[in-house]
Amino acid sequence: MSNTLKVLGVGEARRYLAQDPATAWVTLAQKYGKTFRYRNLTLTCDPEPVQTLLMRKTHTRRRSRIHRLFRHMPGMAGPLFTEGEMWKRQLHALMPVFHREHIVTCDHVIADATDAFTDAAANVERCPDLFSSVSELGSRIAFEIGYGLTPDQPQAPELRHALESWKSETERSRSRLDDFCIDTRKMLTIPWSCLVMSRRLARVRRIISTIIQDRRARGVHGVNWIDCLHLADFGTNAIACMAAHLFWVYDAVNFIVTCGIYELGRNPIWIDALRVESCAVLGSRSAPALDDLPRLICLSNFMKEVLRRYPGSMGIARQSGSTLSYHGLQIPGGSEILILLHALHHHPDHWDAANAFDPDRWRRHPEPRIPYSFIPFLEGARQCIGRRLAELQFITIISALVRNYTVEIFKDDVRLTPYMVPRFAEAIPFRLRRRSTGGDDGVQE
Ligand code: HEM
Repeated sequence: MSNTLKVLGVGEARRYLAQDPATAWVTLAQKYGKTFRYRNLTLTCDPEPVQTLLMRKTHTRRRSRIHRLFRHMPGMAGPLFTEGEMWKRQLHALMPVFHREHIVTCDHVIADATDAFTDAAANVERCPDLFSSVSELGSRIAFEIGYGLTPDQPQAPELRHALESWKSETERSRSRLDDFCIDTRKMLTIPWSCLVMSRRLARVRRIISTIIQDRRARGVHGVNWIDCLHLADFGTNAIACMAAHLFWVYDAVNFIVTCGIYELGRNPIWIDALRVESCAVLGSRSAPALDDLPRLICLSNFMKEVLRRYPGSMGIARQSGSTLSYHGLQIPGGSEILILLHALHHHPDHWDAANAFDPDRWRRHPEPRIPYSFIPFLEGARQCIGRRLAELQFITIISALVRNYTVEIFKDDVRLTPYMVPRFAEAIPFRLRRRSTGGDDGVQE
């Protein structure tokens, strides 16, 4: 390892994260340089090594130690954390669900669920928390597209309850593994967490087993995660595990949609701009399709800016497969590297007015000034397979909101949690109010 890299201590990282978890890493990258050492990791927000790490096969073959640690948690051994033949087999089995050709057929599922969500929310004077409401909507969509379960099927609430109970254990601050400052005390809680997750996963497994038997008896087979994995000869244990894993990963889109609505509440001027464009592009259609995205320029710019400001993960772990040489630095093969995604998206060397929420920057420059400084879904072999689904969900929900509702949020300066997978640290109460007629300016009293 080149000894020119500066070393950040845990105490200082803790202090910066306590001050402001969102800006901590970009501030530290300005102080320590775009690549620096922290604990046993090399941290970087330098687009040059990032490109090499993502695009060269030698660096994508093996998962990082962080991924491997997660993989051992009950319910986590899905495509994000696996590698080698197992990863290929999982991806191959799941791909029909994520394929663009299939996703474009799911637009009515997302649109119907969105209508039900907005109808219900518009009847409430003050909904207590935006993320909880959006997650409820996200679950309904995930259930129909991912598990092939409509809300009226009795197994849907049962499975949802079991999955939520399993996921809640991954979100407890005492046992979170995505803590940048994780210490021995927390590591010691891992076995207990594993036990809890394993018990809760057993319930998921029982429900999945009933679903499979029921579908087999009826000769039903759809394009959803459960049926595709079953068809590819995965056993009930593995299917339950991946059902949990994908439920956990799906949360990324709930977070991004929440951030989008939060920014609409903070910048109502965008509601008007997006409404005018959505009405013009969609005409009498009630929801957009993925193919509309190139014509929904304002909405596409808005989505990009949300993804820039709020990447689904603060950092992406990688293990270098061979020596990485750049700018006179040599990082040996086998090193644990954390790509600081949030810092990459906010470094002043890459962005003008990096901390401003400004969707118009994408109108002025449709591509980032510096290649690989904007990679919300990553690039290369290990990029996000849920991207099309996430984009369709985002544009459908935001377009329905701006055309038919006004959005009010009752808290507009909410901090993020300090973890690798960020969320808002507080509840964001909100209100939707229906416009008197879709697309015009009046608000129904
Ligand atoms: C806006 C929402 C989303 C964002 C920003 C996002 C971002 C990402 C990123 C950055 C990765 C790479 C992580 C890593 O290698 O450590 C990833 C991987 C992945 N994402 Fe997403 N994601 C989103 C939505 C979804 C959805 C809705 C699904 C569906 C369940 C999904 C499924 C996956 C899977 C399975 C992987 C692992 C791919 C692989 O390694 O082969 N994502 N995502």
